Amino acid sequence: MFRLAHLSDPHLGPMPDARLRDLMSKRMIGYVNWHRNRARALTASWLDRLVDDMRRQAPDHVALTGDLVNIALDQEIAAARRWLDALAPPDRLSVVPGNHDAYVPGALRRASEAWAPYMTGDGAPGVHFPYVRKRGPLALVGVSSARASGPWFATGRIGSRQTRHLRETLEALGAQGVFRVVMIHHPPQRGATAWHKRLTDASRVRAAIKRAGAELVLHGHTHLATRTHIEGPHGPVPVICVPSASNGPGHKRPAARYNLFSIDGAHGAWTCEMEERGFRAQTLEDAGGVDTLARHSLAIPGTPAAVA
Ligand SMILES: [Fe+2]
Repeated sequence: MFRLAHLSDPHLGPMPDARLRDLMSKRMIGYVNWHRNRARALTASWLDRLVDDMRRQAPDHVALTGDLVNIALDQEIAAARRWLDALAPPDRLSVVPGNHDAYVPGALRRASEAWAPYMTGDGAPGVHFPYVRKRGPLALVGVSSARASGPWFATGRIGSRQTRHLRETLEALGAQGVFRVVMIHHPPQRGATAWHKRLTDASRVRAAIKRAGAELVLHGHTHLATRTHIEGPHGPVPVICVPSASNGPGHKRPAARYNLFSIDGAHGAWTCEMEERGFRAQTLEDAGGVDTLARHSLAIPGTPAAVA
């Protein structure tokens, strides 16, 4: 059995002091927003406790689906690298970037350089999306939907070239009979988020998966706990979103949570159990620890249980 933990959207704080010239862009809005909202809702204490619990669970691998930082200042990107280094070694932690990691033009390039060991495919010379990392029976396929967008926008885009590579990659891996996990920051399913936060070419991703197939899609971005699906060639493909790993309880979105997937079996007979782990307590003082919040058996396409 292989155990995969999924974390997303840690939006690591605190926000470093920024120079005014660094804020002469979309960053000004994000900087003010962070101090108004995220500084209260997203706190390191909850994240630290969540990560402690995840470590105790000792997953075989960790998938992190973006928005590590807030406005992608150089200091934030460097601090995120130190946080990644403390979280898990690069061969056990796979990262895809989110829109906040590409907050302004040029940010994604700097984040890709800083976080390269966590975003590089097996044997690949550098950071290229989609990347593929094989671990146990899994093939983790890392897709980047991150790109700089205008003020008030949090959109993502894959582009036609990456989509073509994604389809070809999924087809090749499908022929090998491995358990394909697609990691992407933005939700690919229809109507998952507001128009100004959407994946603008989500239909491309859906078309690639409809044709080539995948066993599981993991995303973040909405900070919600959702389980839905998109169409695959052998039945619906589960699409799972995990809430922000840093969110404190008592706010609009669910409190900090991660999902733990236990994957077993083989091609044509996969089983995938999903456990949601997070906080029940409303205050940090009460928060004795992280608990199992729910368990689900996911129907994996192409397996008899899923067809039945
Ligand atoms: Fe996002």
